[in-house]
Amino acid sequence: MNLSEYKDIKKYSKEELLTKINELEKIINIEKIRNEFPFLKHGLKTYFDTAATSQKPEKVINSLAAYYKEYCGNPHSRMHYFANISSQIETSSKERIAEYINGEKENIIYTKSATEALNLGISGLYNVLKDNDEILISILEHHSNIVPYQELIKRLKKEKNINVKLVYTYLDENNSFDYSDFKSKINKNTKVIGLTLSSNVTGETIDISKINNILKEKEENNNINTDYIKIIDATHAINHIKIDVKEIKPSLLAFSTHKIYSPYGLGICYINDKIKTIIPPLNYGGNMIKFVLEQENNILDSSIKYEGGTQNIEAIYGFGYGLDYIESIGISNIEKYIYYLTQYAIKKLKTIDDIHIFSNEKSSASVSFYTDVIHSHDLATILDIRGYCLRAGHHCAMPLHKYLNVSSTCRISFGIYNTKEEIDKFVDTLNNIIIKYKEKSK
Ligand code: ALA
Repeated sequence: MNLSEYKDIKKYSKEELLTKINELEKIINIEKIRNEFPFLKHGLKTYFDTAATSQKPEKVINSLAAYYKEYCGNPHSRMHYFANISSQIETSSKERIAEYINGEKENIIYTKSATEALNLGISGLYNVLKDNDEILISILEHHSNIVPYQELIKRLKKEKNINVKLVYTYLDENNSFDYSDFKSKINKNTKVIGLTLSSNVTGETIDISKINNILKEKEENNNINTDYIKIIDATHAINHIKIDVKEIKPSLLAFSTHKIYSPYGLGICYINDKIKTIIPPLNYGGNMIKFVLEQENNILDSSIKYEGGTQNIEAIYGFGYGLDYIESIGISNIEKYIYYLTQYAIKKLKTIDDIHIFSNEKSSASVSFYTDVIHSHDLATILDIRGYCLRAGHHCAMPLHKYLNVSSTCRISFGIYNTKEEIDKFVDTLNNIIIKYKEKSK
C-alpha cells in the first residue's frame, strides 16, 4: 500500500473502516486463515501479541517435523545426499528471500535473530567511525537498534579515544516521526542513520521515500557525508508491509522470521555490496574460510564469511513455507487488512474514558495505550485472566517511553488471524475493567 494512503485515513469513519475490513475479510478468506493456525483452535485466549511473535500456520509447523524426518543433514558434510539436500535448502532459500525483498541472493546473510544482524552491522563499524562522527537514530527505536551503538561508542572512546555522538530525531505534536527534525539533524558529520521501519510501540510506519528524498536533497546540497551508512530495522514491519530493498536502499536491513508466521531462531540480514567490503564477520569458525594454517587463515570474500558455524536449517526450511503462506494471501492484502484493523482498534479504544493512546493514523499492527486508573502490568494480568494475550511494559523501547513521559504501556498487536469481533469484545472488556476499578477507588 502506498504510504500516501495512510495520510488520507483521517477521513475514514468507523463505518468506512468496517466496510474496508468486511471487503478484505472476504478477499483473504478470514475463516480459512483462522483454520490454518492450530494455536487458535484451543480457543483459550485471543492473541493480541503478534509484534512479540506471530503464531505459525500448520504448514510451517509441519515443515519443521518434515525437515527432521526426511532431510536432516549438515550442509558442511558436503559428501552425502542429505548434506547436499540441506545445502540446497540453504542456497535456494536465499534466492527465495532475495526475491521476496527484491534483492540479490549474494546480499542475504543468515543470522540467529534480527538483534544479531543489527549487532553484526553496528559493531562492524568499529573501523569506519572517525572522531566527531555522528550516528542519527530515531526515538522510536527498539533497544536492539540503540544499545549496540551505545556500546560501540564506549569502545571507540576507551580503545581509540575517538568521540562519536549518538543523536536522536524526535516526534511531532501528534507523536509521529518528525521529518523536519530528522532533516535538521543531518549534517556533514552524520555517518550512520539507523531507523526502524515500523515502531513496535506506536505502530507508526516510517515513510521511507520521504526519508530518501531528504537524504538525496542533503547529498545534492553537499550537506551530508556521501559515505553515510543506512541501517534499517524491518523487524516490526516485515509481517505487514512489503519490503523492497531497491526502494529502501539500505546499507543493511534486518528482520527475524518468527515475526512473519515462520520459525524462531533465524534472522535475515540484507547487506549491500559496499558495506560487505567494510564490515568484518561476527563469528569466526567453520565454513566461512578458504584455508586455516597453524598461525593464519584466509577468509572467504562472499557473504558466506558472515555465516560461521552450522545454520538453523530447520528454520530456513520452515521460512520457505512461511513465505509461501504470505504469498498465498498476498502481502498487499495483508498490509491493508492489518492497517484497517489497527485503525478500527484505535477508533474503538478512543471511546473509552481515561485511556491515553500513543498510536495514530500512521500506525499499523501495534497500538499502545495506558490508563491512570490501573498500572499497565496489572491491567495486562487482568486481561490475561479475561482471555487476552497482550504485552505490557516498555516493549524494549525505554528511551521512547521516557520521551513520552510514561513508565509503561499496554500494547495490542495484530496478525492476519485477528478480527474486528475480537477487537469489539476486547474493548468492551477493557472498558468494564476500567469502570470497575474507578468505582472501587471512589
Ligand atoms: N521485539 C518484540 C516486541 O516488540 C519482543 O515485543
